[in-house]
Amino acid sequence: MFYEPKKQNHGLSKNPFNSLIIPRPIGWISTVDTNGVYNLAPYSFFNAVSYRPPTVMFSAGAGSADDRHKDSARNVEATGEFVCNLATWALLDQMNHSSASLPPAADEIELTGLTPVPAEMVKAPRIAEAPVHLECKYLKTTLIQGWDEGDEYRVIFGEVVGIHIADNMITDSGLVDVAKMMPIGRLGYNDYTRVDAESSFTLDRPGK
Ligand SMILES: Cc1cc2nc3c(=O)[nH]c(=O)nc-3n(C[C@H](O)[C@H](O)[C@H](O)COP(=O)(O)O)c2cc1C
Repeated sequence: MFYEPKKQNHGLSKNPFNSLIIPRPIGWISTVDTNGVYNLAPYSFFNAVSYRPPTVMFSAGAGSADDRHKDSARNVEATGEFVCNLATWALLDQMNHSSASLPPAADEIELTGLTPVPAEMVKAPRIAEAPVHLECKYLKTTLIQGWDEGDEYRVIFGEVVGIHIADNMITDSGLVDVAKMMPIGRLGYNDYTRVDAESSFTLDRPGK
């Protein structure tokens, strides 16, 4: 089959686009607003975009607040900082719960029963229960115009200036124990996957 996204002529029961770029890592973004209120939300339009300096991005669609921003995007742009927490199998329910659409004054960290702990380099909190935290300084926003009037995506880039890895997630040979961390990834629709010992494998690159 072939279809043109703008014509939405796929003829399927649901838009397949999100099922074609899979699995997507989940950036579980914690921020603090200018009043000191914490915020936490998952973003699967998220990825690393450069190695040195380590740089990540997440893309926030239009929100329901008056300014049509999602809280995470507004907070990053206002404070210049965010933390990206690794969403794992053990934290699946809390991750999902933290995606609820709530007013800016709601603190999803408290709501989900998670524990905020201070970061080293930024004021945004880290989530104690997550095994990895990337402390990020805001670089810039790139706007992607949506098809509908007033609809746009704020693609937020941040440089990773501090990285925490839980000591018990590092192997004796000094590697990150991904199979033990069991990160989760987003598939299409409401489907997810998880990385564990069975689903991961090693493949050497030619000539390396
Ligand atoms: C696994 C998962 C991934 C999500 N990815 C995105 C995303 O990439 N962009 C987006 O705008 N919303 C995404 N959402 C929805 C947001 O998490 C949701 O709108 C949330 O309320 C935003 O919170 P905030 O306003 O506190 O930033 C995702 C939800 C889930 C459960």
